[in-house]
Amino acid sequence: MDKIIIQGGKPLYGTVSMSGAKNASLPLLAATLLVPGRHALHNVPDLRDTRTMLKLLETLGARWERDGGTVYIDTRYLNRAEAPYELVKTMRASVLVLGPLISRTGYARVSLPGGCAIGARPINFHLRGFEQLGAVITLDQGYVEAAIKGRLQGSVVYFDTPSVTGTENILMASVSAEGTTVIKNAAREPEIGNLVDMLTSMGARIEGRGSDCLAVHGVRELRPAEATIIPDRIETGTYLLAVAATGGKVTITDCRPAHLPALVEKLRSAGVHIEEQETTLAVSCPADPAGPVRRLRSVDIRTMPYPGFPTDLQAQFMALMIQADGSSIIHETIFENRFMHVAELQRLGADIKIDGSSAIVRGRPQHELCGAQVMATDLRASAGLVIAGLAASGTTEVSRIYHLERGYENMVAKMQALGADIRKIRE
Ligand code: EPU
Repeated sequence: MDKIIIQGGKPLYGTVSMSGAKNASLPLLAATLLVPGRHALHNVPDLRDTRTMLKLLETLGARWERDGGTVYIDTRYLNRAEAPYELVKTMRASVLVLGPLISRTGYARVSLPGGCAIGARPINFHLRGFEQLGAVITLDQGYVEAAIKGRLQGSVVYFDTPSVTGTENILMASVSAEGTTVIKNAAREPEIGNLVDMLTSMGARIEGRGSDCLAVHGVRELRPAEATIIPDRIETGTYLLAVAATGGKVTITDCRPAHLPALVEKLRSAGVHIEEQETTLAVSCPADPAGPVRRLRSVDIRTMPYPGFPTDLQAQFMALMIQADGSSIIHETIFENRFMHVAELQRLGADIKIDGSSAIVRGRPQHELCGAQVMATDLRASAGLVIAGLAASGTTEVSRIYHLERGYENMVAKMQALGADIRKIRE
């Protein structure tokens, strides 16, 4: 198993370019199943998760090839309608093939994902939505089967709480349903806008892009797509936080600052200097006459659906707050078990107490945080540990970094180019 070794305490300087978004690539790749043909997706990051999704498409009968950032997917011949346990257990987002498969073939069988490191994460909203569109759902030996006779029927689908992949699944299922489907309390994450744009370019008729109410007027025919994946806002936020934690000055290119309203606001409140342009962010920490970097102020966050503070940046934000001046309350409202990084950050000397769904972080001066051996528990927790290791003094060893490779393209090389002392070794 690979490990990351970090010698902390070095500020980051330079320019770093952002990759396409993992969480946009996954639904857009799944959407190519909707209609037979050759599709082209640009700016697809080469990650463990995008490779898993391509493998799943291949299992269903699709073929694909990659040329740089562009992936061509040929979905003319599908010979299977099942997402097997082996793939779903490594990537929950495999459930995204349910919507397009039911829409195209009237039948889909997908292994139930089960719990994961950050929470129970059921898919009941997806299944209830499919039922509302007329599908019959059955559970058989750990697999969910969805079947319809004829076409799906437009309906009203209401989510108790906004679900990102739930909204994407119902969107993909309903584009070719008979009549209109209204998705109420839909998630509004930018990745959904990316999917709406792709579906629209395929001939779908969708109203309400970017809002919590989407109206999908079913169409009889769709055409193959050519679409571009948006920049990864969570990767962008992770680099912003890394610079804030280590000090220095970095320009982040090929990003969409507009997709990170909550983080930018919180970082400014903490004292980080950020200049936004349409596709570029310049981030720096003010110098302190008494030391290399002025200590940032502690600020509270509460994770919320978009445009609120993203749960996918909570661990990385905590890694910043452990060295800020004062106390910060980090309230996690989306996933019930997303504090697995706390015990690892404590190994570096962080002062954190968990109280239900809140973590109370008392910041300590940077020199009191010292590198240690830590273990990554999930993708974003791993990124938090890397940030903490970059800022702490001494050596930090992060093991189980396959989590990190699920969602960050070339993170070690990108950090090295910014001057970080970080390397990957094989154990
Ligand atoms: N929920 C249900 N039932 C459902 C669906 C969701 O109770 O059927 C609950 C969840 O348990 C959670 C809340 O609703 O409490 C929101 O979950 P959501 O469905 O939005 O999460 P998701 O679609 O499974 C996506 C991202 C996650 C990200 C969350 C929240 C993808 C592929 N995954 O997951 O990304 O944390 O939205 O923003 O888009 C990551 O990239 O590291 C990651 C975990």
